[in-house]
Amino acid sequence: MLAALQWQLDAGVDECIGELPVDRYAESAASRQAPTPVQSAKAPAPTSSKPTPAALSPRPTAASGQQAVVRTAYEMAAAASSIEALRAALEAFDGCPLKKTAMNLVFTDGNPRARVLLIGEAPGADEDRQGLPFVGVSGHLLDRMLASIGLSREQVLISNTVFWRPPGNRSPTTAEVAACQPFVERLIELIDPNVLVALGGAAAKSLLGRTEGIGRLRGRWFSFTTPGMSHPIPATALFHPAYLLRSPAQKRQAWHDLLSLRQKLAEN
Ligand code: URA
Repeated sequence: MLAALQWQLDAGVDECIGELPVDRYAESAASRQAPTPVQSAKAPAPTSSKPTPAALSPRPTAASGQQAVVRTAYEMAAAASSIEALRAALEAFDGCPLKKTAMNLVFTDGNPRARVLLIGEAPGADEDRQGLPFVGVSGHLLDRMLASIGLSREQVLISNTVFWRPPGNRSPTTAEVAACQPFVERLIELIDPNVLVALGGAAAKSLLGRTEGIGRLRGRWFSFTTPGMSHPIPATALFHPAYLLRSPAQKRQAWHDLLSLRQKLAEN
């Protein structure tokens, strides 16, 4: 039983999302036995050989569906003129499949008037439970990293590239990140921070639009802008705290990058 439980945990089945178990094997066996409508019903004689309007219109493809999701996300995000309105827009947005399996929306933590906005990759189990970003072990290290340059959580704002926990802590897919990106961009526009910090390689790639790994992006300064921003913002990348927990030897480099962040804040 323990081995079966571990197998489920490894596969990402680590949260209860319903009151009763569902036997999917029984469901699929039943659907195999049930005659399909095509088999059971006599096909009606065709009344006309003219193609119906539905047959004429192009079938929606996965790509066009994804484009529509991103368009809706941009429209909903653009209509939000405050952080509270952006949160409400996310609560109403159903375009990111992660929402279906997550317990809570994980939006922001910290100070909306902060000069520093930090963006991580995705919420984990602790964040999902509490509905707040970076509250687990990597969040504790992040707090210590910020404290080392004199910043508290009340002096920064923290969020993620996706707003719901990916099941089993897998990496978010490109489609999930793309669906959330309009809201991330609107968050940056509304906060208008002096400095933007991507935490880890995934956030750095999506925010900075770069293909290099975090080892090449960290410690460098870039310029972030969106069509809705009146001026570009200095942006940088730090090693993700979860990575630093696994690779403590990299903390030396992270300290160097934190000093660079402190310097940039002194200049801006
Ligand atoms: N890791 C992240 O990238 N974000 C969180 O909120 C927590 C852990």
